[in-house]
Amino acid sequence: MSQQQSQLTPEYLITLGQQFGTPLYVYHAEKIREQYAKLTTAFRDSNTVFFYACKALTNINILKYVHSLGANVDCSSINEVRLALHAGFPPERVLYTSNGIGFDEIEEAVSLGVIVNIDSLSNLEKFGKKYGHTYPVGVRLRPNIMAGGNLKISTGHDKSKFGIPVDQVDKILDLVDRYHLRIADLHIHTGSEIKDVDVFVQGIEILFDLIPKFKELQFIDLGGGFKVPYKDGDGETNITELAQKVQTAFANHPNPGGRPLQVWFEPGKFLVSECGYFVTKVNVMKETDAATFVSVDSGFNHLIRPMFYDAYHRIENISNPTGIPKRYSVVGNICETDTFAWHRMINEVREGDYLVFYNAGAYGFEMSSNFNSRYKPAEVLVKDGQAHLIRRRDKFEDLLRNQIEL
Ligand code: LLP
Repeated sequence: MSQQQSQLTPEYLITLGQQFGTPLYVYHAEKIREQYAKLTTAFRDSNTVFFYACKALTNINILKYVHSLGANVDCSSINEVRLALHAGFPPERVLYTSNGIGFDEIEEAVSLGVIVNIDSLSNLEKFGKKYGHTYPVGVRLRPNIMAGGNLKISTGHDKSKFGIPVDQVDKILDLVDRYHLRIADLHIHTGSEIKDVDVFVQGIEILFDLIPKFKELQFIDLGGGFKVPYKDGDGETNITELAQKVQTAFANHPNPGGRPLQVWFEPGKFLVSECGYFVTKVNVMKETDAATFVSVDSGFNHLIRPMFYDAYHRIENISNPTGIPKRYSVVGNICETDTFAWHRMINEVREGDYLVFYNAGAYGFEMSSNFNSRYKPAEVLVKDGQAHLIRRRDKFEDLLRNQIEL
């Protein structure tokens, strides 16, 4: 396989399926590098830093690779923070954007020296009481912007649990006064799969109104949510246009708040969605009056996005590249109606064929489970033309691990 290709070939994926077994998650480092380069190239003339939203894919080797590219990392739990530090990110490049967490996690994050974003007045007050001016802190705001691919992945609208509503900013300022809080960044994240760059500009405009109120501000964090194509014709967020519009917004508000501000983004899907391939094998073909079912050796226990978000993943029969396309319903083997695709055109499928699901890098393995007491899949990283096993498939002992037999 050529190292230059950012797309893995069907033949190569079959080889990996044969070598490591299925179901199998395969990630291609080169594609992550390519995506990161799109960001840094577009924003090369501005003071912008990218934090990889690692909730998308936390395998330690992915974290190490993203670190080697020069990115920072955004975490959504204290364990992600621990993983990021374990992967070698220095604390000052680790951001913990929390929501609804107990204050003990914030204390731990502070003790580890990482950057903390707080998303409730309650935790901000506890933070003020304990740390006052001694430790900088960020505030996650709810900007009341509706954005994202669907409601389940929209987080900035006016019914969202995330962030402190912008109309409560006076309450934040009261806490700043009372506890001499050092608010270093204002954060918003409006949703996932946002193609329209104006959504980000709208967010900036909201923040511009607030910035002068925060005297010690150094950063504005516009969150993640850049879109990548899942199906033909989908398109992706135009990062070059985004960079231009962000620059224009700043040009129109020179030196907001009286000091230069750095802009942060937290891309997850943009960096790792397309690098991932989920390789499965067809167990059973079943003709019925409703559909021709293709049952693969997986289920929503391994890839939940189609069932959970009605998400579309392109599925290809890599064993039959010249087969005549027919209509199939691709389902899993767990004891639920786990449907990956309904009446989808796929090249003729036979039992034993390998089917690959594309865009499987982000929120694929990461949202998998052991439902039906099935094993979680293995993960493979293809880097510099070499395939490395980076997580072995579960074994029976893994199902019993942590259980206490009486
Ligand atoms: N920053 C914050 C604060 C977030 O909550 C998220 C995603 C991101 C960044 C990264 O968003 P991304 O660039 O990946 O769109 N499981 C869902 C997506 C949920 C995203 C949750 N937060 C899915 O599979 O579509």
